Amino acid sequence: MSMKLTIRRPDDWHLHLRDGAMLRAVLPETTRHFARAIIMPNLVPPVVTGADAAAYQGRILAAIPQGIDFTPLMTLYLTENTDPDDVAQAAKAGLITAVKLYPAGATTNSASGVSDFNKVRDVFERMSEIGLPLCVHGEVTDPEIDIFDREKVFIDRVLDPIRKAHPNLKIVMEHITTEDGVDYVKSADKNLAATITTHHLIINRNHILVGGIKPHYYCLPVAKREDHRLALVAAATSGDARFFLGTDSAPHVDQLKETACGCAGCFSATNTMSCLAEVFEAEGALEHLEAFTSLNGPDFYGLPANEERITLTKGAPVAYPTKINSDEGPVSLFDPGFPLHWVVQ
Ligand code: DOR
Ligand code: ZN
Repeated sequence: MSMKLTIRRPDDWHLHLRDGAMLRAVLPETTRHFARAIIMPNLVPPVVTGADAAAYQGRILAAIPQGIDFTPLMTLYLTENTDPDDVAQAAKAGLITAVKLYPAGATTNSASGVSDFNKVRDVFERMSEIGLPLCVHGEVTDPEIDIFDREKVFIDRVLDPIRKAHPNLKIVMEHITTEDGVDYVKSADKNLAATITTHHLIINRNHILVGGIKPHYYCLPVAKREDHRLALVAAATSGDARFFLGTDSAPHVDQLKETACGCAGCFSATNTMSCLAEVFEAEGALEHLEAFTSLNGPDFYGLPANEERITLTKGAPVAYPTKINSDEGPVSLFDPGFPLHWVVQ
């Protein structure tokens, strides 16, 4: 007998769509299942002003496949020159849903990010006043700090001071990868939540490094040891409203991944719902999948949950393509390393 699960249509609270040919290639992979997504602003050059966000939103809307209902939730890339008035106007106009903080140099296209957090205090204050969430890439960039410790050190050195200085600022810790991240989110009674990616629920650092280097498992923050993955699985599958899905699906053409200095990013838009159903089923927690993918995110952002439903069914293993083609080149799909039995109807 096949198993069936009907849930509200999911949203992706952290997504990279890129631009141009890549945008056109990857967008249908997200819109097939997801109703909305928080769109990361780390283009080259980045999306820094309300005008940039409006233009980028227009390009995304133009690339949505015909007959598909999808809402891109735009973000601004915070720089030390961001104008609080521009942010407030873009928020008031309904153009943006969040502002994204990249510590300068932390990841792909983050050179224009923030080095001196004192320089963005006015923006944080204005965001606190208007209730606009801040999405945070939570890693320090100090070269002295080991890459596997960068999330934990960020919490102590940067995030906790920001939260103490701006207690009314709503913050999403993006793509948490550690038990420290889970514990820190749980320690807060309000204004703090975290997204968790599909791939961080499935891989640990052994998957990247044992038996040969696997460039398609390299992302930032880098996957940590197994204890941390288990803490993420426990948080995601618990139903706790402070944790929700942000795939961080981040396409790079294979040529830029399979090279001496490969880009960070896993592309998981296509098979995320199948992967998550496996993870939740293995935990005996399928009843909490809807909270993670479809309820907790909108709740934190103050948006209604989607009215539409999707149905997942379990059957024989489903074959996904190993690559998505774009005019820039092929993009490999995240390989969970186990068969996927659940498919969205
Ligand atoms: O793995 C990642 N890829 N992490 C990020 O923070 C950025 C992203 C990208 O844009 O490729
Ligand atoms: Zn990202």
